[in-house]
Amino acid sequence: MKKTIKDFELSGKKVIIRCDFNVPIENGVIKDDSRIKASLKTIRYARKHNAKVILLSHLGRIKTEEDKKKNTLKPVAEKLSVLLRKKVKFIDQTRGEKLENAIAQMKDKDVILIENTRFEDLDGKKESNNDPSLGKYWAHLGDIFINDAFGTIHRCHASNLGIENNLPSGIGFLVENEIKKLSKLTNNPKKPYTIILGGSKVSDKIGVISNLITKADYLLIGGGMAFTFLKAAGFNIGSSLCEKEKIDFCKEMLDKYPNKLILPIDVITATEINENAKTQERFLGEIEEEEIGLDIGPKTVEVFKQYLDDCKTIFWNGPVGYFELKPFQNGTKQLLDIITQTKAYTVVGGGDTARAASDFNYQNKISHISTGGGASLAFLEGIKLPSLDAIDEK
Ligand code: 3PG
Repeated sequence: MKKTIKDFELSGKKVIIRCDFNVPIENGVIKDDSRIKASLKTIRYARKHNAKVILLSHLGRIKTEEDKKKNTLKPVAEKLSVLLRKKVKFIDQTRGEKLENAIAQMKDKDVILIENTRFEDLDGKKESNNDPSLGKYWAHLGDIFINDAFGTIHRCHASNLGIENNLPSGIGFLVENEIKKLSKLTNNPKKPYTIILGGSKVSDKIGVISNLITKADYLLIGGGMAFTFLKAAGFNIGSSLCEKEKIDFCKEMLDKYPNKLILPIDVITATEINENAKTQERFLGEIEEEEIGLDIGPKTVEVFKQYLDDCKTIFWNGPVGYFELKPFQNGTKQLLDIITQTKAYTVVGGGDTARAASDFNYQNKISHISTGGGASLAFLEGIKLPSLDAIDEK
């Protein structure tokens, strides 16, 4: 068993908490604060136990100086101050004198948020490649390290693994809860167990498809990625998304699991992608050259329903249509309705799917909405997670 924040004496200690504040921000406004809210329990616990709290997180991917402007964590510090009802001091650097002085002046229960850890990526990808000197530097700022960033548990960064290698470490409540909830899918899940996979790319999900198909009874495929499968099955997909180099993989999967892999039988198409797009319902074989498939069709919803109705366990990652636009949201909405009417243990993972659940108001009817996208998939695949493995055992 991994140590948790409860296994440490926190009073008077400098506790570094790695959070996942990788949230959508537009023009300085946070569009979805669920990841911030999910981190509050651990932060509040540390403050209640008189710790000096030092928060770290990445935000977006930093490749140029320009990327820094729109990926500062300053709005997160402001949001956190409101949610905690306590001023969170934002330090606009990832290392240096200003940061060190601010930490030296901290009193018990104070909270500091350090600037986006990936700003260090401009200097030889030090954060993302887990540069040992960076992990050591951040570790020397604190006494205890708590990893509460489930969304990055599949990454080996200086701000998780790098610090864990240099400080006593444990997990926070968010990570503990994710492990508990997701383990119900890995340790003898109740059957029938159906997985819905959507999103745009097959290439993002190859490991998941070939691995999870052996664990689940059915894999329902929707979203942009369905079209590479449909092409592999010999259908004309018009101008829909297709990853040509993945067609062979899809063929192999379809040959190997003809009764487990369930593809759409009809789709919603349009020739343009916007709110006013004129849509068509097309059965496979009817899609015209200039048409793009942007959602599953009503007959597919009926077919998918048959595989979901009597399930005991359902996992869903990736919307089945371009749900951000009204003409293409029906499939995702209908499936949310179907899964929340079953008696199954339902888990939704991935930022877009979680957002769809909350946009359409189903968030309270789902057993667990994971804060991790790639992380929840990696956890379910059972692949090695060095940043979790490196946490101290009890
Ligand atoms: C996520 O949003 O899935 C996590 O924060 C990880 O982000 P990343 O894919 O940029 O590493």
